[in-house]
Amino acid sequence: MVNVAILGFGVVGSGAAQVLADNAAVIEKNLGERVAVKRILDLREFEGSPFGHLVTHDFNDILSDPDISVVAEMMGGSHPAYDFTKACLAAGKHVVTSNKEVVARFGAELLELAAANGVRYLFEASVGGGIPVIRPMVNDLASNEIVRVDGILNGTTNYILTRMITAGATFAEALAEAQAKGYAEANPAADVEGLDAARKIVILAALSFGTLLSPDNIYCEGITGLTLADVAVAKALGCSVKLIGHTEKVQGRVLAMVSPRLVPLTNPLSGISDVFNGILVDANMVGEVMFYGAGAGKLPTASAVVADIIDIVAHKAQKNVRAPKFEVAKDTDYADFADYACKSCFAFEAVDGAAEKIAAVFGEVETVSADGRIAFIGDMMTEKEADEKIAACGLTLVSRIRVL
Ligand code: HSE
Repeated sequence: MVNVAILGFGVVGSGAAQVLADNAAVIEKNLGERVAVKRILDLREFEGSPFGHLVTHDFNDILSDPDISVVAEMMGGSHPAYDFTKACLAAGKHVVTSNKEVVARFGAELLELAAANGVRYLFEASVGGGIPVIRPMVNDLASNEIVRVDGILNGTTNYILTRMITAGATFAEALAEAQAKGYAEANPAADVEGLDAARKIVILAALSFGTLLSPDNIYCEGITGLTLADVAVAKALGCSVKLIGHTEKVQGRVLAMVSPRLVPLTNPLSGISDVFNGILVDANMVGEVMFYGAGAGKLPTASAVVADIIDIVAHKAQKNVRAPKFEVAKDTDYADFADYACKSCFAFEAVDGAAEKIAAVFGEVETVSADGRIAFIGDMMTEKEADEKIAACGLTLVSRIRVL
């Protein structure tokens, strides 16, 4: 029997306890061993819960218990989650987590600490909720060089965009629904301003290119500036609008970014709705591989946490199990964002002579009109070139949304 401790009995933590209890028989059948929750750390009491008697308020009850070999950290936030993780790894306990903030900020150090102590630090649930994406990237794509990753990485914003576009919900209504369903972060600004997706794309960039960028130092734009006029323009141009995390190498350095994108309806990411996430990985031997599933929510995310626990138990007798490895990025590892090139949809105020001015700077482009704006998709150009052309055309820019 393997004893597990849970740190944080919120949406995901209580989900993990439920998965381990409700699916105890199938887990035991698949593993040949029972996995049980022995202790739960939380500041609150859970009197009505079937797990209430396992709750402790003292982390040392877990750290000093030699029977607990695996700790599942689902507290959220950097501290004390990072400090507790370090203590557990140093004490020779395996740690699994759904905490993308800790992985994105301290993942390199924690992986090194785990390796030094002969234990594992796994974080499948930190990206894509219930979608298996990290293990496949680490193991199944190991014969490939990763070229590019594009992902819908935040369930809350995808849910909000879907509800606004297809059901006419207001931003506030759609956000309240996402919160009620347990998708949103404790502070939903992290969702709608793109920071949650930024944390996830830096994790995917680290797995792809071996370098952990700081989520604070990458280009990050959320969905708060998007309007229904942007959506109308996107529709007229045969695209949907999604919040996309993107990583690739630019001039040999790593670029990661988050921004709204027009996604052509021919791209499989365009049809991903509601809380679902999709991650499109372009690798040099296999080509494009897509991972799809529930990107947030109690049981889907808990399913991924428990998958990590099962992985640890299944390989506990094995030395040198494959582990992700990446280093903290140096300043020189960051690509210069000005050199990043993509297509964009430009929307300018539709004043007299606008079409001629656009043609003079951007060339012959097919324009659409909506809500007092004239919009078009320009050629591929760098960020620097895009800024120069916007300035040169002498029109008021209403919005610029990059195109996938
Ligand atoms: N708030 C996150 C989301 C939870 O909406 O995707 C899953 O990481």
